Amino acid sequence: AEQRLWGGRFTGASDPLMDLYNASLPYDKKMYAQDLEGTRVYTMGLEKLGLITAEELKEIHRGLEIIKEEWKSGKFVEKQGDEDIHTANERRLGELIGKNISGKVHTGRSRNDQVATDMRLYVRDELKKLAGYLKSLIETMIKRAEKEINFLMPGYTHLQRAQPIRWSHWISMYATYFTEDYKRLNQIIERLNVSPLGCGALAGHPYGIDREFLAKELNFNGVIGNSLAAVSDRDFVVETMFWSSLFMNHISRFSEDLIIYSSGEFGFIQLADAYSTGSSLMPQKKNPDSLELLRGKSGRVFGSLAGFMMSLKSIPSTYNKDMQEDKEPLFDAMLTVEHSILIATGVISTLAPKSERMEASLSMDMLATDLADYLVRKGVPFRETHHISGECVRAAEENSLSGIDQLSMEQFKTIDSRFEDDVFKTFNFEQSVERRDATGGTAKSAVIKQLNALKDTLGN
Ligand code: ARG
Repeated sequence: AEQRLWGGRFTGASDPLMDLYNASLPYDKKMYAQDLEGTRVYTMGLEKLGLITAEELKEIHRGLEIIKEEWKSGKFVEKQGDEDIHTANERRLGELIGKNISGKVHTGRSRNDQVATDMRLYVRDELKKLAGYLKSLIETMIKRAEKEINFLMPGYTHLQRAQPIRWSHWISMYATYFTEDYKRLNQIIERLNVSPLGCGALAGHPYGIDREFLAKELNFNGVIGNSLAAVSDRDFVVETMFWSSLFMNHISRFSEDLIIYSSGEFGFIQLADAYSTGSSLMPQKKNPDSLELLRGKSGRVFGSLAGFMMSLKSIPSTYNKDMQEDKEPLFDAMLTVEHSILIATGVISTLAPKSERMEASLSMDMLATDLADYLVRKGVPFRETHHISGECVRAAEENSLSGIDQLSMEQFKTIDSRFEDDVFKTFNFEQSVERRDATGGTAKSAVIKQLNALKDTLGN
């Protein structure tokens, strides 16, 4: 127990299995840079208080630089008793600059405000990286949508053919979801960017450290106003995993659409070889594994959120070791999201849309609404025209016609005398799409407006 940071009051040895169970270094060493940066700034605060001298501060900062290089180059040697990244770095600092100086670094600080600081810095850095990748995904989608604006395809509700839409309108839908995710992500970054440093173990700092100064040096927007909250709050972890879960939910629905569209029966898109795999038995198979993994991993990310919420829910104030369980699910969720964004970007930028197959899947019954609208334009109330158009669909079916466009003028007149020769002009998919030019619709001008609005939001 002697070599441990907290060993003073202990006489017995700990169970080696307990050491393993307790250790977080295997996963929290990811935050080595944030931990060193926190200490660099914290010691500046100590120097301002006269608790360490300017020379000592210089020595400490020199040591921290060396440790950073060691981690970076993979030369940092982990030792027994390195419980977590905080203890490992402090132990190493002592070896490098002597315990007389390194022993002052933790004055007034606790691992409780230290870990909360490290985590916020780390999550902030990671989420900024994710925001950059997400932006590229959306931009890739917008480019594709602009290029393929002329492709028409069936739009679905209940997975039943509903009305013709533009392929670009479909892309723009998911780009809209992802842009909301992008906005939400930036809001989370804003919210988590406040400093817990200088709150000590829970009760506050006994030497009156300038917390606002520490916050500013670490590029936080401010300080957390209550020391008990500062060390116990993991809502930013929950929010990040909730964001990740919601984003993966969108990714999953996006993938599910594309899986359906890539099936032989639909054939709307062909996935690039780079994102497909074959079957060990069936030579003809080309499976959309990338999309299935995107869909499947959404469950894993939601599991991280649900698991940590369970861990968190009954923890008494303030710090309890349960909270160390925040890291693995959080890191896993963020890494899964990062990989998923990159894979989704690859998939969407390399797939081949088959516009002939999309258009061949459009059927005349999808213009039944347009037929109802035809009579509306002649002054008939929509409730009535809806019924009349339905009768046309039934008549076509009963006469075994291939579609409502095959009804004769006479048959139309029998159903309703207000039908005139110009009714046949209704049966045009392009026209149907172009009529829907109100904001948000599937007409070319409306889709282009949507894409431009998304670009504005992304700040291009
Ligand atoms: N490894 C710990 C964690 O991740 C650091 C904080 C330890 N604090 C304590 N009072 N034991 O939560």
